[in-house]
Amino acid sequence: MTLEEKATLAVCAGSENNANVAVSGKYIHHLPGSGGQTQANPRLGIPETVLADGPVGLRIDPEREGENKKYYCTQFPSGISLAASWNVENASLVSKGIGNEAKERGADVILAPGMNLHRNPLNGRNFEYFSEDPVLSGKIGAAYVKGVQSEGVGVSVKHFAANNQETNRLNNDSKVGIRALRELYLKGFEICIKESSPWTIMSSYNKLNGPYTQESRDLLTTILRDEWGYKGLVMTDWTGRRNTVEQLYAGNELFAPGMPVQTQDIIEGVKNGKLKESDLDIAVRRILEYIVKTPRFAGFGYSDDPDLKTHGEIARKAAAEGMVLLKNSKALPLVAKAKVALYGNCSYELITGGSGAAQVYSPYVVNIDQGLSSAGFALDKTLADYYSKYIPYKRAEQDYEQLSHVHLGKAILPELVLSRKLIDSQAAENDVAIITIGRNSGEAKDRHIDGDFNLTDAEFDLLRNVCDAFHVLGKKVIVILNVCGVVETASWKALPDAILAAWQPGEEGGNAVADIVSGKENPSGRLPMTFPISYMDVPSSKDFPYDFFSDAANSSSVRTDPNKPVRNISYTEYEEGIWVGYRYFSTFGVPVSYPFGFGLSYTSFGCSKPSAKIAPNSAKGADGYAVTASVTVTNTGNVAGKEVVELYVSAPGAGVPASASYLSDTTDKPVRELKAFAKTKLLQPGESQTVTMKIDTYSLASYNENAGQWETAAGTYAFEFAASADNVLAKSAIKIPRGIWPANASACAPQK
Ligand code: BGC
Repeated sequence: MTLEEKATLAVCAGSENNANVAVSGKYIHHLPGSGGQTQANPRLGIPETVLADGPVGLRIDPEREGENKKYYCTQFPSGISLAASWNVENASLVSKGIGNEAKERGADVILAPGMNLHRNPLNGRNFEYFSEDPVLSGKIGAAYVKGVQSEGVGVSVKHFAANNQETNRLNNDSKVGIRALRELYLKGFEICIKESSPWTIMSSYNKLNGPYTQESRDLLTTILRDEWGYKGLVMTDWTGRRNTVEQLYAGNELFAPGMPVQTQDIIEGVKNGKLKESDLDIAVRRILEYIVKTPRFAGFGYSDDPDLKTHGEIARKAAAEGMVLLKNSKALPLVAKAKVALYGNCSYELITGGSGAAQVYSPYVVNIDQGLSSAGFALDKTLADYYSKYIPYKRAEQDYEQLSHVHLGKAILPELVLSRKLIDSQAAENDVAIITIGRNSGEAKDRHIDGDFNLTDAEFDLLRNVCDAFHVLGKKVIVILNVCGVVETASWKALPDAILAAWQPGEEGGNAVADIVSGKENPSGRLPMTFPISYMDVPSSKDFPYDFFSDAANSSSVRTDPNKPVRNISYTEYEEGIWVGYRYFSTFGVPVSYPFGFGLSYTSFGCSKPSAKIAPNSAKGADGYAVTASVTVTNTGNVAGKEVVELYVSAPGAGVPASASYLSDTTDKPVRELKAFAKTKLLQPGESQTVTMKIDTYSLASYNENAGQWETAAGTYAFEFAASADNVLAKSAIKIPRGIWPANASACAPQK
């Protein structure tokens, strides 16, 4: 290849309006609405390959000029929902569906999964991401990758790394202590990458301890390739021009969406000696290694007719599998054919998923009212009629205000105000009330506290009035949370009789809600994050831009004076260190509304015979030891159900001194962490299953930032088999020998 050809291959083809097609000469958009394409080289027989969003389904334009045919794709449940299923097979089944649609529509890479941690509940993209915990995140991520890649298309695991806020996402510097970086923000990626060998990884927009992640050789070469052994390709997130030569040298091989000037930068870099041609050759080799794996290179004849019906059925099952029953005072499941007074805008206009890159144009949406009606429940007609008039009217107003900015997505409408008198009459006429509370968020913008994390006054009033009216008559009230993430629950959770977190459940959400409400499916989801009592309890609350207001377009890149960096905008201090989520709440005894890992079932379970055994690790290429932990789970109730076993491990000497500041980030504080989890099959009443989890001793190690190495302390470890971070069912203890795994101490370290 000539220098020009190499430099061209490294830079994607831009877009129709801003084409970058130096070699092929013309821009052929293979898949309208997809995120981007690599460039073809006709002389060498190298085709363009297609990169398309996103995490909950293939994002392409549903319509094409001059055609009547529609190009819809299945909208699966959100990332939070997948993680809340705590079921790796479920995650793989969903992503296999996404991969199949990508392949059958002519894409080569799905730009997913999004794997950043829920450091703070207000991050606008949390719905795409999995969890506050890196093990849950890493395992669900690996399952996701395997599902997509089993279809012969690739993924792009994103956004690598420490991309934990949307405000000023293009420039914000995440200042993270090295221990927290290694143990939390990189750990999920490490697990996913080692377990699933993703074809590509997407480097994030933000800076990390100084340099942009895209210009960090520490991150993209020293850690990712030298330490973790990653062999695939790294592409940029959809960035404009940065220091192209630095990016390439760092280990970022592919530039997306691609600009002609970047090709020029590479050519000039080689000519003026700033970039070694051998470094460019490494990049080109990796790009080619990726291209030869793609369906397009193989000349795959895609059908453009994916099986949307079967995938819809998978989406429905998966959405139900991810729903978390937070409260149930004998309210659920409902009796067959119950008369339901259905309140809340989102009961009639479901928020199926978040906005931005994760948006999907699905063939249909099943709203909650439709799902309940199909399941045989009788909905109050007057109410349905009111909402059917109110929602389109308000929606028109909102759309006008928003001008349908793709990044803002569907705004949550103010709740319809209903008089107490009306609610009283509905309570007399119906058997039960269901209220849906919705929240939406998306790319480029973070959430806020008032009316977003917290409920609005109108929502409170509705909740109070409905509960009063129905309870007086001895009737139950159920709340459905159709949310993009955490909302405040502590102040109102005593009011209703049941609360179901349905998340953003995808196109089949209404049916999935009905499946749970009717008892057709027994809820088996568990929270993948903590629900704190108040936002201010969150350890990163003061180190997050919760009071920054701007529209999405301006929120991504906030102009600040380089000489006067603004806290939480220009940079964000991860002062909480490793004390994120349950690690903080349970270690420091801070009460929560619902703990990490929590979720109820319509049946009950018992746990017996806990055991943990250690043996030299026989896995290929592994050192250290492996622990096999197992426990027997029995369904002790009356209906079939699945149980999740969460394995929390504490290093020897566990117990943090009460006075220890959560801001300190030293290695001498042992921490109790989720290390593995397992979900049983559907257990019939009385049926038992022994679940077994394997963990190597490297995954028990803590990062010693002074020595720059991973260390597993010698001693007796507590193994706790739990139903949530706060509810231990059975225990075992095991002696583990000391282990040391060297790492590059200075890589990505904060600048002193
Ligand atoms: C997002 C990515 C996405 C890309 C392509 C970016 O703005 O951050 O997640 O894959 O656009 O659409």
